[in-house]
Amino acid sequence: MLAQTSKLLVVRWPIYTASVAKKRVEPQQVLPFKPGKNQENAKVFLSDVIVFLKGLPNESVDLIITDPAYSGMNQHLKLGKGRIVGDYKNKGDDGRWFEEFHDTPENYEIFLAEAKRVLKNDSHIFLMFDSYSMLTLGPLVREHFNLKNVIVWDKVNLGMGHYFRRQSEFVLFACKGKRPLSRRDISDVWRIKRIHNAKYPTQKPVELFEAMIASSKKKSDKKFVVCDPFVGSGSSAIAALRQNCQFIGSDISQEAIDCSRERIEHFENYGEDILQPKKATVPELQKPFWEDN
Ligand SMILES: C[S@@+](CC[C@H](N)C(=O)[O-])C[C@H]1O[C@@H](n2cnc3c(N)ncnc32)[C@H](O)[C@@H]1O
Repeated sequence: MLAQTSKLLVVRWPIYTASVAKKRVEPQQVLPFKPGKNQENAKVFLSDVIVFLKGLPNESVDLIITDPAYSGMNQHLKLGKGRIVGDYKNKGDDGRWFEEFHDTPENYEIFLAEAKRVLKNDSHIFLMFDSYSMLTLGPLVREHFNLKNVIVWDKVNLGMGHYFRRQSEFVLFACKGKRPLSRRDISDVWRIKRIHNAKYPTQKPVELFEAMIASSKKKSDKKFVVCDPFVGSGSSAIAALRQNCQFIGSDISQEAIDCSRERIEHFENYGEDILQPKKATVPELQKPFWEDN
């Protein structure tokens, strides 16, 4: 299957490293990261989520943290504009793939199955959901993972809304096998301000992803590979770098890859986050437990 996928990767999907524009690298050549050989600690690939995950070896990543593009179901429910993207359900044994992610239950299950395959045994996954996708797709997570908690992301400030104004999103936390959290004093409500006037439309605060990583990674974990296959502007990549992890991610949008690559490079060279220069936390509302790591 990997050989077939790799052929597809070469023919249909241009794949790039974070810092070597135009150089084509297949994910299976990158993982596992080889100390001393790879200078970059974060790599992002222009790829469809399923193609990207299919290109990763079994049990090759320590943690998945991701904020998928949910739109199809919302559109189906007539709850907003959304963006219909692709269709996988006709995928046969010949491994045909379509251009973008369509968040039908069938496609979401393919994504979950691949996510589980690439995760190491006894590991964690954090999956972000808005309230609608949580109702439609959230229950499917149970069929693939041991669902443990629903974390509420309190965005502190009010957003737009359908009837009630939205101030929250959800993060499903689940295990592949068994793995304790890195510590036992973390609440299931995280108060982290949304990003206003973001350069990338769905940009999430880096601290949100740092909270996920720090909840999972133990101080004794030395080479810890974090994966986000819907990387967008690269907030999860910056979080991984701040938490001394290695990172691998993908996005189907060239704009997202350009944006995240530039952000990662700047962070690796100068230690500054060009897309989120200020903290998104308010000390009296949220203890930044991830800063203890
Ligand atoms: C909600 S955004 C992620 C935002 C990100 N967490 C951040 O902080 O910038 C979801 C991303 O999924 C990407 N996407 C949509 N369909 C995809 C697919 N089939 N494969 C990979 N990425 C896809 C979109 O381009 C978008 O950047």
